[in-house]
Amino acid sequence: MVKIGDIELNDFPLLLAPMEDVSDPPFRALCKEQGADVVYTEFISSEGLIRDAAKSVQKLDIYEKERPVGIQIFGAELDSMLQAVDIVEQSNPDIIDINFGCPVKKVVCKNAGAGILRDIPLMVKLTEEMVKRTKLPVTVKTRLGWDSDSIKIVEVAERLQDVGIKAISIHGRTRVQMYKGEADWAPIAAVKNNPRMNIPVFGNGDVDTPEAAVKMRDEFGLDGAMIGRASIGYPWFFKEVKHYFKTGEHLAPPTIEERVNAARRHLEMAIDWKGEKLGVFETRRHYTNYFKGIPHFKDHRTKMVTSDDAVDVFAAFDEVLEKFSDYVFY
Ligand SMILES: Cc1cc2nc3c(=O)[nH]c(=O)nc-3n(C[C@H](O)[C@H](O)[C@H](O)COP(=O)(O)O)c2cc1C
Repeated sequence: MVKIGDIELNDFPLLLAPMEDVSDPPFRALCKEQGADVVYTEFISSEGLIRDAAKSVQKLDIYEKERPVGIQIFGAELDSMLQAVDIVEQSNPDIIDINFGCPVKKVVCKNAGAGILRDIPLMVKLTEEMVKRTKLPVTVKTRLGWDSDSIKIVEVAERLQDVGIKAISIHGRTRVQMYKGEADWAPIAAVKNNPRMNIPVFGNGDVDTPEAAVKMRDEFGLDGAMIGRASIGYPWFFKEVKHYFKTGEHLAPPTIEERVNAARRHLEMAIDWKGEKLGVFETRRHYTNYFKGIPHFKDHRTKMVTSDDAVDVFAAFDEVLEKFSDYVFY
C-alpha cells in the first residue's frame, strides 16, 4: 500500500497531474470516475491568492467526489506562500502541493516553479516553513534539476523529505529541456533507490501508454505514476492502465457514445460550476481531444466551439452521436 501522510492508496496509484486550464473540477471529476487515485488542481499563484484575485480564488473550488485532491500553489516569497497555505486550508483539500517544476519564463524569472532549482537552500526553507504551517500533508512536484549539469535530485528529494514532505512527484526532464526530448526516469529511480527515502516517489513524464506505466512500475520501481498529457480529452486513460495492470490486455477504446457522454457531462459540470456563459466558453478547448480521429469532423467541431448557447452545444453532441454511431475507434 502507498500512503501520502494518512491517505491510503492502492499499490502503484495513478495521479492526475496538475495542468493549467485543464485540471479543473469537471475534468478532475471525470478522471476520478475513470480511475485516477489522486487528482491535483492546476497551479495557483500564491500572490494571486493573497490579493484575493478572483481567478486564483476560483481555482480553489473542489468537489467532494474527487477526493483525495491536492491543491497546488506556486511562488517564491516565504510570506506569500505561508499566507497562501492558510487560504488553501480553508478549502479543505486533502493535500497541499508545491510547484517547483513550472518551466515558464514569467514564473521562473521570479524564482518560482522550476526557477527555485537554482536555489536549493531556498527551496528547502520554503518547504520546511510551509510544512510547519499546516496539518495537511504537503507534497512537492519538481523536475530533475535546472539543467543537465545540475541534476541533484537525489540529494534534493532527501532534504525535502527531511523537512517533512509526504510524497514527491518528479518530472523526468530539466527546466532547460522544457518539454523537449524524452523524459528520463533513471534519476527518479535513483531517488527511489536512496535507502534513506521512505516517502512515495512518483514518476512523471511521457506515461502515455499502459506499457509505459508498467515499465515505470516494474523496471524503474517507482511508487506510482503521475499522468498529464495522455489524459487530456481522454480520462479513460486511467481505466485503461488499470485494466492492463490486471489483465495484460488492452481495453477497447471508448465508443462514440461514451465520448459524447463525457463531453456532455463535462459541459454540465462546468455550467454548474461557473454558470452557462463561462461554462460553455471554457469547456470548448476539450472537445477536439474527446473526438480526436473522427474523419470529416470539422463542421461539428466548429459548431461546438462557436455556439454561445449551451442548448446549441448539446444539440451538436446529439448530432455527433447520431451521425457517427457506427464509427469504430482503434
Ligand atoms: C497544458 C499543461 C499545463 C500544465 N500545467 C501545470 C501546472 O499547472 N502545474 C504543474 O506542476 N505542472 C503543469 N504541467 C506539467 C504536467 O503536470 C506534467 O509534469 C508534464 O506534462 C509531463 O507529464 P506528461 O508527459 O504525463 O504530460 C502542465 C502541462 C501541460 C501539458
